[in-house]
Amino acid sequence: MNNFISAADGLDFARDYIENHLDKRQVNKIQHAFPSPRFWNETEIPVQQMLEDRQKLHAQGLGAPINLYMGVPYCIQTDPGKCGYCLFPVEAFTGNVDLERYFEYLKREAAMYKEGLKGLPLGAVFFGGGTSNLYKAEKFHELMDLVRSLFPEIKPYVDITLEGIPQLFTREKIQAIKESGMNRISMGVQQVNERLNSFSGRKQKTQHVIQTLEWAKEFGLAANIDLIFGWPQQTVQTMVEDLETVVGWGVYDITHYELNVGGPTDFALNRYHELPSTLSNLEMYKVARDLLKSHGYEQITAYNWRKPGNPFSRPYEEGVTHRFDNMDTLGLGYAALTFFSDVALDEGHSWSFINWRNLNEYKARIDDGKFPTEAGFKHAREDFMISLIWRNLFGMELDREDFNSSFDVDIYEHFEGVWKALEEFDFIEVTPHKIRLKGDGPFYTPLIQTLLAEKRYQQLREKMVVEAQA
Ligand SMILES: C[S@@+](CC[C@H](N)C(=O)[O-])C[C@H]1O[C@@H](n2cnc3c(N)ncnc32)[C@H](O)[C@@H]1O
Ligand code: SF4
Repeated sequence: MNNFISAADGLDFARDYIENHLDKRQVNKIQHAFPSPRFWNETEIPVQQMLEDRQKLHAQGLGAPINLYMGVPYCIQTDPGKCGYCLFPVEAFTGNVDLERYFEYLKREAAMYKEGLKGLPLGAVFFGGGTSNLYKAEKFHELMDLVRSLFPEIKPYVDITLEGIPQLFTREKIQAIKESGMNRISMGVQQVNERLNSFSGRKQKTQHVIQTLEWAKEFGLAANIDLIFGWPQQTVQTMVEDLETVVGWGVYDITHYELNVGGPTDFALNRYHELPSTLSNLEMYKVARDLLKSHGYEQITAYNWRKPGNPFSRPYEEGVTHRFDNMDTLGLGYAALTFFSDVALDEGHSWSFINWRNLNEYKARIDDGKFPTEAGFKHAREDFMISLIWRNLFGMELDREDFNSSFDVDIYEHFEGVWKALEEFDFIEVTPHKIRLKGDGPFYTPLIQTLLAEKRYQQLREKMVVEAQA
């Protein structure tokens, strides 16, 4: 029998909670792992032990492929700073020498993992940031050499995506990306509408996007476009125009995020009054959903849309969003996040951690021959369970049997009050096998995640207070 405490307070509590939050700005956008990094207080992170755990699992025929993330710290400076809205840690790009130096550190960090990763299978690769297409064309080959130095055998189905901004892709870079072995690009477009996009200070023109898509097609790369809704002064009409344009370009993968407003960003400080309300954002979500569905797109996560039939695409992150036993993702580089958890491991062996968000500290740790980890969180089994529920919710569906076989808990009974309330709001449908988001449910994923974690968060907050007083 399990002794998780996270079961929520019942139907009335859940119903009130939902009602009180329907029109509130969702300050935490969809979270991929529980708890939020403000609870990550551990500074001694046993990376070596995590790698040994993975080797043991692998030797027993257990474990899952490892997803690899590699970040770049740098971005072209904008006015306003950080594109006006970005909440990610980034550093100002001052020239190629920045990247050359950084890349040397990335290689040294990767080398520290080499022995520990030996023989482990690779799931997917994502080069993000920051701005990964700041690299010169020849660097993409070196990036892939780095991946192959850790995972010599890359199966053909492995999705290898490089993310960047439209104005920095060139034909030469796209060719090198393809020839290096990467198979997908993701472009942060945010707004096609040039007037609205200019609020971000980005020097991006629609022509950059069109041109990059053409090159991607020419060289046989899959392409994703990131758009944001809930942007200052955006209306349903401008959003529809953008979506129709992107659909008209024949883009198979569209990521449609709700703007996450916060921090000392220009949008939060100076354009707050221009932001559509949460209920307007909901309206936008619904219009976008219906529009994309009418064009044959399938919703694969709360914000990812994919049109079937792309000759260049690989299965989308199924391994990450639809499993209840493991969430192994290794992040290399500045501010990269790592999740190492597997249900087959004993309590205390599941971790999330983040690499240094200060570039000098990141480099100093590597100079000292240490893993450049800044802070981490050791998951109790319950935290791991909630983390997996969150991740599967992002994938819009929970498999009750899979969950039960991992945690020996009936997920419906455990959170019965929450599910019943969500059913009343028509946010989910429950069958004997699945709990599936529907209606406005995907839009409210952050609300649902927080509600499910409420009890555990309460406990973690109390623990933090006690520790601060000690
Ligand atoms: C962190 S950026 C990195 C890629 C690249 N630098 C760019 O700007 O496209 C990745 C994506 O995160 C999304 N993003 C960043 N800040 C966001 C925010 N405050 N709210 C919603 N999405 C955001 C954008 O859609 C962006 O394309
Ligand atoms: S949105 Fe992209 S380009 Fe802009 S600051 Fe964030 S990571 Fe950099």
